[in-house]
Amino acid sequence: MTSSAFETVTPDPITYLDRVAATDLGRSYKSRMLDELEIRPGQTVLDLGCGPGTDLSTLAEAVTATGTVIGVDHDQDTVDAARDRTAKQSAVTVRLGDVHDLPLPDHTADRARTDRVLQHVADPAQALREVRRVLRPGGRLVMGEPDWSTLTVDHPDSGLSRAYTQYVTDEVVRNARIGSQLARLAAGAGFAVPAVITVTPVFRDAQAADKILGLERTTRRAVAAGYLTEEAARRWLDHLAGGPFLAAVTFYIVVAESS
Ligand SMILES: C[S@@+](CC[C@H](N)C(=O)[O-])C[C@H]1O[C@@H](n2cnc3c(N)ncnc32)[C@H](O)[C@@H]1O
Repeated sequence: MTSSAFETVTPDPITYLDRVAATDLGRSYKSRMLDELEIRPGQTVLDLGCGPGTDLSTLAEAVTATGTVIGVDHDQDTVDAARDRTAKQSAVTVRLGDVHDLPLPDHTADRARTDRVLQHVADPAQALREVRRVLRPGGRLVMGEPDWSTLTVDHPDSGLSRAYTQYVTDEVVRNARIGSQLARLAAGAGFAVPAVITVTPVFRDAQAADKILGLERTTRRAVAAGYLTEEAARRWLDHLAGGPFLAAVTFYIVVAESS
């Protein structure tokens, strides 16, 4: 069940995050999130689950020298990478911390962003309550998360597509449907939710999609978990590798305001 068309070795997490950020999709949704943050010079901006600092420099430019950017991540290697990358930027500090229990005082930030973080956390509602605690009244949070149940990978046997998406939704991502749940969760945490924006990237190139989706690696895991047989997985991957290829998934950008 192997196909030389697809990547078989899992990239390390930082390589993967850099790769996503460098795609047209990554650039475009991150730019839209930045627009929605409406950052002004001098503000204090949080990037929660900041990864290796992917967005910290852009945020630092937006707040200018009079503002402050604080990245928070719970993974030490990731924090180290973010600190290295932003060492020359005096506006930026990076802290080791958990979004469920932020290492920040009440009402000290003007803006916050979470970018593909809440899909992984144990308790998104608690994380949102924490963000609300640290934002000032009138503060703004912009969240970006996919809803993996919307993943479509076209195949002549639509049952295989359904099984693949079911596996990703059930087993691969902890909070796989978080994108479409964000508005409700934010309202539950006491935020107003003035805008919900959807972005649906369409992949027409199997190798480009594979770099984001890990098609063969995920298929192997779906077989091991009993969602696809070996024979079905072979038919699935052969068709994806041979094309024509089409995959799409809906990504939600949700704006929340604290009062
Ligand atoms: C998909 S990555 C996104 C990183 C970055 N926001 C970006 O767009 O490149 C998710 C990040 O969230 C961090 N993370 C996950 N759960 C967390 C938690 N409970 N507290 C803080 N960071 C967390 C991970 O360590 C990882 O760096």
